[in-house]
Order: sequence, then structure tokens, then C-alpha cells
Amino acid sequence: MAPALQNPASNITGADSLQDAFQMFLHASQSLEGHQQHLHREIEHLSANLAATNAKLRVQIAEKQDATNRLRALLQALPAGVLLVEAGLVVEYNPAASALIGGLTIGQPWRLPEQWARTSVPDEYLAGSVDDGDKVVQVRIVASGPRSMIQLLDVTSTVQTHARNEREAKLVAMGRMAADIAHQLRTPLSTALLYASHLADGNLAEDDRAQFAQRLRDQLVRLEGLASSMLGFVRERPKQVEVISLAELAEDAIASCGPLFEKRGVALVRSIEAGENVITINRQQIRSAIVALLENALEVSTAGQTIAFDVRVEGQRAHIVVQDQGPGIASSMMDHLFEPFSTTRVTGTGLGLSIARTAVEAHRGQIDAVNCTEGGARFTVILPCMAEL
Ligand SMILES: Nc1ncnc2c1ncn2[C@@H]1O[C@H](COP(=O)(O)OP(=O)(O)OP(=O)(O)O)[C@@H](O)[C@H]1O
Ligand SMILES: [Mg+2]
Repeated sequence: MAPALQNPASNITGADSLQDAFQMFLHASQSLEGHQQHLHREIEHLSANLAATNAKLRVQIAEKQDATNRLRALLQALPAGVLLVEAGLVVEYNPAASALIGGLTIGQPWRLPEQWARTSVPDEYLAGSVDDGDKVVQVRIVASGPRSMIQLLDVTSTVQTHARNEREAKLVAMGRMAADIAHQLRTPLSTALLYASHLADGNLAEDDRAQFAQRLRDQLVRLEGLASSMLGFVRERPKQVEVISLAELAEDAIASCGPLFEKRGVALVRSIEAGENVITINRQQIRSAIVALLENALEVSTAGQTIAFDVRVEGQRAHIVVQDQGPGIASSMMDHLFEPFSTTRVTGTGLGLSIARTAVEAHRGQIDAVNCTEGGARFTVILPCMAEL
């Protein structure tokens, strides 16, 4: 069988297809080129970004380094000792820290020198082993997670200045007190001297002699009273104590000055709710303290007025209260009420309240004074007491 004749038209179609394919190839390679260019641009863009980020990072690292250097320089220059501790190990410290604690080593465990003793002030240590005498070092620890910063501050000079100021204030107070004592003693002493010189006069009539002798004695009694008052002020610990009932103490105090109230026409209204409680005291000292309050109340009261004397127990504390209807405590006295020789009375020594406070505080008690809103003053003595066994 003869081969089939090829159709010329189909040849035309073959050439077209080639043409199409070529066109497609052209198109594809153009698009590839486009993609490649795009990719190239992307790469350029990314490279530029990377370079910018790198530059930024370099600046940041430099800044960080700068800040670290600055901090390190600051740390070196700080007069306070600073130690950085991480997970219990020393990672950094400044010269001031090593001056305060010898033998610091990076990487070694951190601990305060054993010979450093705590003082009574929180965070304060007596660094006794430091070569140049005793130092007082304040140690503060600021912890955050496993890291902590330990600050060491040499407060020796502050502590010394404080102690010096306290000593000076005490000396000033002593000087003032000595001047006050001299002032208190001067009048009765010079009066006594005057009477004594009269007595030395050989021509003195017998009656006058007896009178001067009596006056001299009065002045000497006053001087003796002053001296024992002053001793009462400086005495600290109650020497002989006894256990007495609180009610008995209250009655005892009232009995000591009751007649004075009657004489002055002032009513003493008592409310004694002492129950079975007992109190361990030096009877004479505490009775005198209460009497001093009653006498002061009487001093400021006028006939017809009332003084309230209350005794009650709250917890294990006896409250002994004296309240008057007088003019109240002068505002100028409020801050000095319990200081020796503070008085507004011409004939007062100003020792009554200071002796009372010394006695009460020696018995672990306290004494307070307030002006009442309804007028008058209220003094309260609080002392430890207990129910009778
Ligand atoms: N109940 C009171 N009301 C008002 N002021 C008072 C009262 N008690 C005390 N004061 C004030 O406190 C001052 C000091 O009292 P304190 O008892 O220590 O001394 P004094 O009474 O002046 O003298 P003395 O040593 O003779 O007792 C008084 O001078 C007075 O100004
Ligand atoms: Mg008094």
C-alpha cells in the first residue's frame, strides 16, 4: 500500500507551533528575567536593611559598652562600697568595698567578715578588725532574683558626731541643772547664814535668840528637804520593794494628804476599783509620786472644786488617775512638765513631777499628763500589777 501523502497544510501548522513555542520561550525567559531582577532588587533591599540593622546594632553595642564603662567608672569613684553578687558569688566590687572588707575575690562566695559584730541599730556593724580602729559600717542588701547588690557605707564619723552631740547635750543639761540647784539652794542658805550671824551676837535677847534659832532650823529643814528631793530625782532603782494591794496603796496616798483637802475646802472624789490586784513597789516612792500629783491638783484648785481620784485595772496594768478642775497645764509648761526645776509656782521647786516620773519609770511604769476638754488637767500613772495569787 502506497504511503499516505502529507497534507501541506499540516506543515504550515508545524511551523506555527514552532513559532508559538519560540514565542512562549521568549516570554518565559523575559518573565524569568523580570523575576530575577525583582529577586535582585529584593536581595539589594535586604542587604541594605541588614547593613542598616548591623550599623544600628553596632551603635547600640557601643552605647551599651559606653554605659557599662561609665557605670564602672562611677562604681570605682563611689565613696560607698558596692559589691555585686550573683548566685552567692562575688561578680564585681569597687575599691571602696575592698577597703572596707579586705580579701574580696571575684568568683568567691560572698559573706560578711565573721568578726563584724551587729550594733543595736539595724543594718549596722562594728567592723572591729579593720586596722585603723573601730569602724561602723552600714550594710544594705538589695536583692533581685539571684542577683544582689550590697552597699557598704562607712558611717563611723556620723556615729561619732552623734555620740559627741549627745555627750555635749548631756553636759549642757548637767550645767543647767547645776545652775538650777545652786539657785534653789542659794536663798535658804543665805537666809540661814543671816540667822546664824544674828545668833552669834552676844547681846541678843533670849526671846530673839530662840526665834532666830527656830528660823535657822526651818531653813536647814528646807535645805534638807531639797537635798532629799534631788536625791529622789537621781535615784534610779527602787531599793526595797514589797507586794501590797493596789487598794491599800490608793488609801495610803489619800491618807497622806486628805487633811489638806479638807482645809482647802476641795472635795476628793475617789473611785477605787482595784479588786484583788497587788503591786510590787517601793511603797514610799510610789506613794510620794501619787501624793505629788494630788498636791499639784490641790495647788490649782479653789474651794468648792472637786478632784477626782480613780484607780482601775486594765489587763495587768494599774491606772491611777488624778483629775482636777483647775486652769489646766500652761502651754509653756507642757514640754517641760517632767523636767527638774520646771515650775510656774513662786514657792515651787519644780521637782515634784520629775521625782514622780523617775520613781514610776524605775517601776517600769509611765506617767502622762493632758489638759481635759472639759477643763482642768488629768495626770495618769500606769504601773504593772497582777491579780493576787
Ligand atoms: N494639776 C496641774 N494643773 C496645772 N498645772 C500643773 C498641774 N500639776 C503640775 N502643773 C505644772 O507643772 C509644774 C511642775 O510641777 P511640779 O510638781 O514638778 O513642781 P511644782 O509643783 O511647781 O513644785 P514642787 O516641786 O514643790 O512640787 C507646776 O509648777 C505647774 O506649772
Ligand atoms: Mg508639785
